[in-house]
Amino acid sequence: MIVTTAQLFKHAYGKYAVGAFNINNAEQAMGLFQGAIDAKAPFIIQISKGARKYTDKRMLEAIIRAASDIFPEAIFAVHLDHGDEETCYDCIDSGFFSSVMIDASHDPFDENVAITKRVVDRAHAKGISVEAELGMLGGVEEDIVVEEGNACLTDPEEAEQFVKLTGCDSLACAIGTSHGAFKFKGRQSLHFDVLEKIKARLPDFPLVMHGSSSVPQDEVARINAAGGEIAGSMGVDVNEYLPAAKKGVTKVNIDTDGRLVWTRVHREFFQQNPEQFDFRPPGKIFIKEYAKFIASRCELLGAAGTLDDLRASLPASA
Ligand code: G3H
Ligand code: 13P
Ligand code: ZN
Repeated sequence: MIVTTAQLFKHAYGKYAVGAFNINNAEQAMGLFQGAIDAKAPFIIQISKGARKYTDKRMLEAIIRAASDIFPEAIFAVHLDHGDEETCYDCIDSGFFSSVMIDASHDPFDENVAITKRVVDRAHAKGISVEAELGMLGGVEEDIVVEEGNACLTDPEEAEQFVKLTGCDSLACAIGTSHGAFKFKGRQSLHFDVLEKIKARLPDFPLVMHGSSSVPQDEVARINAAGGEIAGSMGVDVNEYLPAAKKGVTKVNIDTDGRLVWTRVHREFFQQNPEQFDFRPPGKIFIKEYAKFIASRCELLGAAGTLDDLRASLPASA
């Protein structure tokens, strides 16, 4: 069942974080729905601009609707990840999205405010909520590369001002995470001090953590043992998801880790079965392994086991 992102946030705020997972194809959708159901957790499906172009945006919509029929117990929202203004309007007008993200974080503050405000006005007129971003994460996202030196943490005072000026419904904050598989050279902690200051200025306001993949070292080792060349890198400490959720992080974005699962499964499969050319056997393994991964993330986010209570809290018409 597709619900609004606001409904998910209301249930989760301060208690657990909702996992937001990107999908590009049917195998990811099957693994995501199966894993979330196994964990009895709600979730957010994220669609990036790149995903909409990969096959066709109508294909993704059809896959999600079909998955919702196949897994009728699932409760989830559909969200545009890292949208520009034009893509936000397309998704708002589509009638399919629960929420959109306008990412104008690379623009100066005033411009970010103006663009975000325009999107908020258009989205709210249709009952859709808007995630905006302030501050700049490091790493690679879509076609933008931000060098570590240019990444900057969200300023708590600016965050308060930004939310007041734009009327956005949630805010992606830079608190020390980074997009992609090459995040940190050593172990690194989230900036809980900054998070606490933002929460103090924006109480009860859902915050979003992008770049939250953990880059599991065993996955990287298996990929490299099967012919990959993924250079050493560490990700976010999974034991920090729940403490962050208790401090207002209500949505945690995870994409890269799923790609690592895919890469490990396929590299190992074809290395061990060099005569094979059928993509379905490794596809089946991937769906199972991705479901296991999703369930483990829902546990770590504190979202596992919340589905029945969430369902009971929803209005009968939802
Ligand atoms: O932050 C970006 C997400 O990981 C989506 O990646 O734009 O390559 O689909 P993508
Ligand atoms: P990762 O690259 O850490 O998975 O982050 C994904 C993300 O932030 C999607 O918006
Ligand atoms: Zn992101």
